[in-house]
Amino acid sequence: MNMEFNKLFAAALVAGIVAMLAGFVANHAYLPEKLKENAYPIEVTEVAAGGEAAAPAGPEPVGDLLASADVAHGEKLSKVCAACHTFNSGGANRVGPNLWHVVGGKHAHAAGFAYSDAMKAKAGEVWTVEALNEFLWNPRKALPGTKMVYAGMKKPEDRAAMIKYLESLK
Ligand code: HEC
Repeated sequence: MNMEFNKLFAAALVAGIVAMLAGFVANHAYLPEKLKENAYPIEVTEVAAGGEAAAPAGPEPVGDLLASADVAHGEKLSKVCAACHTFNSGGANRVGPNLWHVVGGKHAHAAGFAYSDAMKAKAGEVWTVEALNEFLWNPRKALPGTKMVYAGMKKPEDRAAMIKYLESLK
């Protein structure tokens, strides 16, 4: 009888230790591993000293990205622009001007489109890769007074692909 009791006691003790070990392993090895990636990623906006969100001063240059940029990706991105623009040769002006052969052309390059005064004032300037990079990054910052209502393309890879696609239209 006493012997049986000891066996039971030992079994219970072992079970308890196993449970504790399992808990320890679960808490200390398994969970932190699982939680390394936040299930709900939180976008952290850097806050400047003044308390306002710090916006980047300007777009990253895309010159170096152009060589490896993907035209097909640019064409895909152009679906957003197609709400306002046509891209084909001789395409109609819509809310925005036709964009055939815009790279290397002058600002306000499409005949018969009613550009903003801001764009008309730049009509002597060529749409270089740099100018397009600025404009597509943030149209209203690059050209205050523009009629193009578009928030801008924030990823340099996207702008490079978009510009490479525009370049191909000639
Ligand atoms: C909501 C409509 C709208 C969307 C969306 C839009 N645009 Fe525009 N875009 C315009 C308008 C309007 C103008 C003329 C701006 C002006 O006169 O100030 C313009 C002008 C331009 C110009 C200058 C053309 C020229 O002849 O000088 C380029 C380049 C351009 N857009 C590219 C794009 C690209 C690329 C996209 C997509 C990423 C895009 N736009 C999205 C309306 C739009």
